Amino acid sequence: MSDRSGKFGGEDPFEIARRWLAEAEESEINDPNAIALATVDAEGLPNVRMVLLKEIEADAFVFYTNYGSVKAQEIEASGKAAFVMHWKSLRRQIRVRGHVEREEGPQADAYYASRSLKSRLGAWASEQSAPLSSRASLMAKVAKLTAELGPNPPRPPFWGGYRIRPVEIEFWADGAFRLHDRFRWVKSENGPSWHVERLNP
Ligand SMILES: Cc1cc2nc3c(=O)[nH]c(=O)nc-3n(C[C@H](O)[C@H](O)[C@H](O)COP(=O)(O)O)c2cc1C
Repeated sequence: MSDRSGKFGGEDPFEIARRWLAEAEESEINDPNAIALATVDAEGLPNVRMVLLKEIEADAFVFYTNYGSVKAQEIEASGKAAFVMHWKSLRRQIRVRGHVEREEGPQADAYYASRSLKSRLGAWASEQSAPLSSRASLMAKVAKLTAELGPNPPRPPFWGGYRIRPVEIEFWADGAFRLHDRFRWVKSENGPSWHVERLNP
C-alpha cells in the first residue's frame, strides 16, 4: 500500500473508478462506460457480453437490462457477476467481482424515463435473448406497442437494473516493459473497509 499514489491514489475505490471513468470520457471514441459482464450458467460455463455501466454509487455499480435475458437468468441463479472495463486510449482496466441484486424501484424508473422514446419502446418490444423469426416481426411489434403505449410508456416490469456490490476491485495500468501496475482492493469480511495490495503484473 506504501507506494500507491498518483492515478491509484485515494482511500475509496469507487472514487478512483469514477475518476478513471471521467478521464476515459475525455479520451475514448465510443462508450467509455462499456463493461464486459461475466456470469456463469448452471453448469459453471462462463458467459460474457458488453453492457453499459450507468451508475457508480457509494458502494456499488449499476447497469440496466431485460430481466428475462440470459444474463439475468444467470445472475438470478448465482447471485454473482464480474466485469472488466478496458480503456484502450488510457491503457487501463478495472476488474470487479461481486454480489448482485435487482434495482427495480424509483431509480430504475428514473433511468428508464431518461432514455429516448424509441429506446423505451425498444425495451418493451425486445424479448431479449429469445429467438426472433425476423427483423420485420420485431419492427411490427415496435409499431404496435408505439400505438398502444403512447408517448409516456411506463418502465416494463421485465426491464430494470442490477446493482453489483463488489467484494474485489482491481485497478490495472500499463507500465513500461510489460511491468504493469496492479492494485487489488478486497472487501473486509466484517465492516465496510478494504484491504489493498499491489500485485505482480
Ligand atoms: C457497447 C455495448 C453496450 C451494450 N449495452 C447493453 C446494456 O446496457 N444492456 C443490455 O441489456 N445489453 C447491452 N448490450 C447488448 C449485450 O451485449 C447483449 O447482446 C444482450 O444484453 C443480450 O445478452 P444475454 O443474452 O447474454 O443476456 C450492449 C452491447 C454492446 C456491444
